[in-house]
Amino acid sequence: MLTSAAQINTMTSYSALGRRFGENEKTAAKLLLTDLASGIDRVPDNYIRSEADRPNLTEVEASDASYIPLVDLQGLSGPNRDDIIRQIGRACQQDGFFQIKNHGIPEEKVQAIMNIAREFFHLPESERLKNYSDDPTKSTRLSTSFNLKTEKVSNWRDFLRLHCYPLEEYMHEWPTNPPSFRKEVGEYCTRVRELVFKLLEAISESLGLEREYISQNLGEHGQHMAMNYYPPCPQPELTYGLPSHTDPNLITILLQDDVPGLQVLRNGKWVAVNPIPNTFIVNIGDQMQVISNDKYKSVLHRAVVNRNTERISIPTFCCPSPEGLIQPAQGLIDHEHPPVYRSFTWEEFYQKFYHRGLRTECCLDMFKIPSA
Ligand code: OGA
Ligand code: NI
Repeated sequence: MLTSAAQINTMTSYSALGRRFGENEKTAAKLLLTDLASGIDRVPDNYIRSEADRPNLTEVEASDASYIPLVDLQGLSGPNRDDIIRQIGRACQQDGFFQIKNHGIPEEKVQAIMNIAREFFHLPESERLKNYSDDPTKSTRLSTSFNLKTEKVSNWRDFLRLHCYPLEEYMHEWPTNPPSFRKEVGEYCTRVRELVFKLLEAISESLGLEREYISQNLGEHGQHMAMNYYPPCPQPELTYGLPSHTDPNLITILLQDDVPGLQVLRNGKWVAVNPIPNTFIVNIGDQMQVISNDKYKSVLHRAVVNRNTERISIPTFCCPSPEGLIQPAQGLIDHEHPPVYRSFTWEEFYQKFYHRGLRTECCLDMFKIPSA
């Protein structure tokens, strides 16, 4: 049963969707893409990008290991630390993206959360809809695309968004179906948080800052997670799972299944990331770019979809606390490297980010100090 609030929500959204699809289309209005996609053999108009804004899939380069560096974290707290930190620093500076192996999260835990995400998105529509909301301010919600209220073209994606820190504060909002959802996802969140802190310390050191500079100076870091579900798409060349964007947060740890879809912009070309089992993708977010005073890059990336295969990705977003002050680290500023950005709080940044929607132009420009 839907709650009454959800029912109201459902009714208004159904009528909105009805208009968007055109009443005479054979597709009945659906709140979630998953339930729409299963019955159609063409992409509905409101998912079709203008010709200038399509993925051009034939022009995408295949990745090899040299494009998205693979960093082995084995020995990070031992004799290999300096070498690993150098590799991480180089990747952050040149690529903004890297993959990690031997990251310390057991394979069974990773498999478990991936299985749970898949089970969740395969639940009957009525069961999934218990978690539905199109209100972006809700800390737990299942929704679709990016922001239905503001966007003109929709994305070929459903997603479950969860706040994950502190766990006790949010876990009671999470789905209870599959039955082990809260337990497994909670354990995964705790493990990923440990990994995030190891990486923040390594990145801090790679910039020549104190080990704790990034992990300790920005208040208590928030942690959010998305479970992205990209259904098979009859015309993947016309639409995106997620269009080109940078991540607004500090750092993202992406878990993906074995289906390709993530693409990273490198030297003006889109590079398809080939998933490697038992690895995570790490990418620098906008806040890290600011702290590093533009030494490290928050790089554009996007998700494309596949004709016959569903795809699941599970990014964990590490964010500064709302009042955390973001600014170029003092230790990186000198005569030759004046600060590129003014200081601001994460709260201020996020407000601005959200109101402009998911766009290719990076929101960071709004915080730049005008150069003399
Ligand atoms: C994201 C993202 C990529 C993917 O959620 O911010 O970039 O492969 N996801 O799903
Ligand atoms: Ni992203």
